[in-house]
Amino acid sequence: MKILVTGGAGFIGSHFVRNVLKHGDIPIVLDNFSTGSLSNIPERVRYYKMDILDNKLEDLLYDEGIDSIVHLAGQTMVDYSLKFPLHDMKQNIEGILHILEAMRKTKVKRIVFSSTAAVYGDVEEVDLPVKENHLVQPMSFYGLSKLTEEKYLEMYHKIFGIDYVVLRFANVYGERQGTKGEGGVISIFAKCFSENRNITVFGDGKQTRDFIYAGDVAEGIYVALQTSNINTVYNLSTQTESSLLDVVNACSAILHKEINPCFELERKGDIYRSMLCNRKAKEGLYWAPKVDLKNGLKRTLAYFLNDER
Ligand SMILES: NC(=O)c1ccc[n+]([C@@H]2O[C@H](COP(=O)([O-])OP(=O)(O)OC[C@H]3O[C@@H](n4cnc5c(N)ncnc54)[C@H](O)[C@@H]3O)[C@@H](O)[C@H]2O)c1
Repeated sequence: MKILVTGGAGFIGSHFVRNVLKHGDIPIVLDNFSTGSLSNIPERVRYYKMDILDNKLEDLLYDEGIDSIVHLAGQTMVDYSLKFPLHDMKQNIEGILHILEAMRKTKVKRIVFSSTAAVYGDVEEVDLPVKENHLVQPMSFYGLSKLTEEKYLEMYHKIFGIDYVVLRFANVYGERQGTKGEGGVISIFAKCFSENRNITVFGDGKQTRDFIYAGDVAEGIYVALQTSNINTVYNLSTQTESSLLDVVNACSAILHKEINPCFELERKGDIYRSMLCNRKAKEGLYWAPKVDLKNGLKRTLAYFLNDER
């Protein structure tokens, strides 16, 4: 199977491309390298330096004989979307439309899309872990543009028969993650440790997140390309809450050193608890995360501290 990976030079893309190679399929990367890097793409993988909005996309799908698309490229930052909503809209909403139009014309049959927990917005604690059918109330333009992308996929399926799988990722972490953007707290901590700088925790550190290792997300995406349970939405998560202090303590144990974070006032708009239900993915995709926080942190810290970049 030949898979076009938009955003394949980025963090999650780099894990997914390696996963595809492991399964013996052919990944083709399309990336404009705005946040991604060439060093993230394994040497034998063919790549196109191209924007998803480029008119040559249709030719690429046709010439390469692409079977399906994994769409990871786009505007990924909540804060940025609040400052630059127009740019966020162009990259995400216009971006997916451009891809769907190219698919419609070239008859590429399936797309797997990287959505986010941000589509749910602020969820009452009694509703944790959040299920896919929970009310969606994004609190940022990023969440809104991702939700709109989901809706376009749904309509392109109904009207043109293009198959899709939407995957709403929890907080993804792992090797090669950038130190900006969504869910980057672990890579930010790891970078601080690698530079012998202290870390800063905003708030009391007891706020929780559902941290999922990027290798597990990559396998979830691959499974979504094969499944017959399509044209629906799945959360990809661990369904486990870990606090920032849990992360700090785990890092301290792995690095064999005492860590005394600097505490600052909590950031406005940060949610206190977050956890996504993964039952639907377990039952519908026969997928489950394999790497727990301790082992995922070990791999991530080894990458940042040994400078395997
Ligand atoms: N990292 C997380 O925790 C997380 C959580 C939820 C959802 N997501 C989603 O997963 C996807 C991948 O995220 P990531 O963390 O790997 O981000 P990333 O920034 O590392 O990767 C995005 C890649 O897309 C490329 N790109 C951006 N705009 C492009 C465009 N217009 N044309 C071509 N290439 C473009 C970038 O150069 C980069 O290589 C994103 O859509 C993001 O919204 C990520």
